[in-house]
Amino acid sequence: MSSESSALQTSAVINEAVQTLRDGGLVAFPTETVYGLGADAKNPEAIKQIFTAKGRPSNHPLIVHLAAPDKFDQAQVDWVPVLAPWVRDLSEDALKLINAFWPGPLTLVFKKDKSVLNELTGGQDTVAIRAPAHPIAQELLRKFKGGVVAPSANRFGKVSPTSAADVRSEFEGMLDLMILDGGDCEVGIESTIIDLSSGDHPVLLRPGLITPGEIFSKTGIKVYLPGEANATKQDDGLPRVSGSLRAHYAPTTPLRMYAPGRVLDALSEFPDIKSRVAVAVWDSDSSLSEDGHPSVHFEEVIVPSDSASFASRLYRSLRDLDQQGWDLILFPEPPAGEEWDGVRDRLQRACFGSGPSSSSHANN
Ligand code: TXA
Ligand code: MG
Repeated sequence: MSSESSALQTSAVINEAVQTLRDGGLVAFPTETVYGLGADAKNPEAIKQIFTAKGRPSNHPLIVHLAAPDKFDQAQVDWVPVLAPWVRDLSEDALKLINAFWPGPLTLVFKKDKSVLNELTGGQDTVAIRAPAHPIAQELLRKFKGGVVAPSANRFGKVSPTSAADVRSEFEGMLDLMILDGGDCEVGIESTIIDLSSGDHPVLLRPGLITPGEIFSKTGIKVYLPGEANATKQDDGLPRVSGSLRAHYAPTTPLRMYAPGRVLDALSEFPDIKSRVAVAVWDSDSSLSEDGHPSVHFEEVIVPSDSASFASRLYRSLRDLDQQGWDLILFPEPPAGEEWDGVRDRLQRACFGSGPSSSSHANN
């Protein structure tokens, strides 16, 4: 009974969100990766509002989010008419990837159709597209009947939000934002991005839950790393992936990684030894007791040693720890292996951008 009425309520709220998008407004909505800040992909003024709200440079392109075709049976779904208005060529490889992973946490970059607005591509001749799997995102997109651009719903350079409350706190007092609440995001880090626009080799632009290994085993398609096998031509100096800036996803508390058993080494960078240090430790590890230090109070925070669970909680942990008044946060270096690449990438950038002056790094 209660689930039925809440479903009805959700539907009414989604209708209101659709109207807000049609009126040129912004709507934050859940996806399986992180929350997005959505606007009508055909409305240049609405797109400009996104850049203003985020404090994001206007040449950083956005991802267009599309609804999955009506018949939700992967074997029969026809994505061609869904993509035709947005992309110039749809290769066989593209269709294989789409059929294997959409809807899901995979973004594909194509040569764009000429109707795609420059405001959303940052002036580039390519467009990034994904079909998110979250049911609320899908219902919103289906009812809206158009593309919705949606960067992660955080201020530029900051930690991406994985709950409706996170989004609210990002824009508190700045923006009266409609937020659809879909609970906590399951994947927890942003989608994997693969560039198909060269028509040559697919290239990994941003690692995520879906790895090149999984792509190869499901489709037989080899994904190249940037720079590998002559695969990229990033010679125009355009920032294709804002996540590729060294400082990103950053908390304001200093954050560092420590090598196995080397917690004290990580402190050496901070000569005026910090007094309250939060240390994340693997759930599979024994405690830190052997790493004691007379003037430092360490407090352990347990983190999952499974990569998907770790990713799912990473931004949540960073946000929570950032609120708790630690002098320093230490995370264990993720182990080798491509299933950890997404997490390692986010942690490295978060470390680099962390600390009170992070916003000046991030906005460079
Ligand atoms: O999981 C996700 O992808 C989330 C959810 C909300 O869908 N969105 C997201 O958007 O992470 P954003 O804007 O925070 O990151 C999108 C990344 C940016 O780093 C951008 O540079 C890159 O995608 N991108 C967008 N268009 C591109 C293009 N045409 N070529 C290369 N990279 C592109
Ligand atoms: Mg982002």
